[in-house]
Amino acid sequence: MSDPNKLIQEEFDRAATLFAERTKGRFDTMDAVGFSRVAPGATVLEVGAGTANFLSLFEEIAGCLIAVDLTHGMLATARSNHPDVRAVQGDGRRIPVASRTVDLVATAQALHHIHEPVPVLTEMGRIARDTGHVLMIDQVASERLEEALAMNELELIRDPSHAISRPPSALRVVVQKAGLEIVDERLWEGRNVFSQWMWPGEFPEDRIERVRKSVEEHGAETGMDFRREDGDWSFRRRRMMILARRGG
Ligand SMILES: C[S@@+](CC[C@H](N)C(=O)[O-])C[C@H]1O[C@@H](n2cnc3c(N)ncnc32)[C@H](O)[C@@H]1O
Repeated sequence: MSDPNKLIQEEFDRAATLFAERTKGRFDTMDAVGFSRVAPGATVLEVGAGTANFLSLFEEIAGCLIAVDLTHGMLATARSNHPDVRAVQGDGRRIPVASRTVDLVATAQALHHIHEPVPVLTEMGRIARDTGHVLMIDQVASERLEEALAMNELELIRDPSHAISRPPSALRVVVQKAGLEIVDERLWEGRNVFSQWMWPGEFPEDRIERVRKSVEEHGAETGMDFRREDGDWSFRRRRMMILARRGG
């Protein structure tokens, strides 16, 4: 099997600037800052922070923002778009930060690239202060197994570094297996369109065509509610936020 970290780095190094543009604003209606209960002046660290689009939501309230990511290209874009963010190259399995020092340890839209998320969430719990929180946000699959499998097949054609989109019940389990206690959870739902999801330039043309064909043939099986709209496809995107603290 090819090295999953190498696949991730290749995929995200290729088009980091375009990724930042395409995904700008995608968390704006989720109220992640309010949900996180973060206090003014807090230290906020994100694992898999990429270009820091998510982390920068905390710019006004936090005292210190730290982006940890595997991929150099993503961190270079984070540094140039958000100069106040401290960008650190590192793996979520071994975060280069002392234990119990961070008020909010977040991860957004990264767990579906990670086959074994428990060690990463355990590590996030390790660096959270006793009074701090761990915040997990990720896209979710259907609770129906067949739909979840079809969605993941499609995601894997779109992005070879995709590991698995999990249903809400599985996300709760991995958070708890990491020794974390769930404080709150919220499901968010919105719609996206194919032409934005498969942005020309960010994705190779032949890959866009393969995904289009797969949507036409199997989109209805994914539970993503694909609908034909003005020569495009629209589809439902669901994300889950879980706020947790280290268990006693
Ligand atoms: C889909 S991007 C999300 C970026 C950002 N959180 C956002 O939502 O805009 C996923 C990011 O996770 C990073 N990543 C994946 N596995 C990782 C790991 N084990 N440790 C650190 N970063 C990781 C990738 O390099 C990529 O930048």
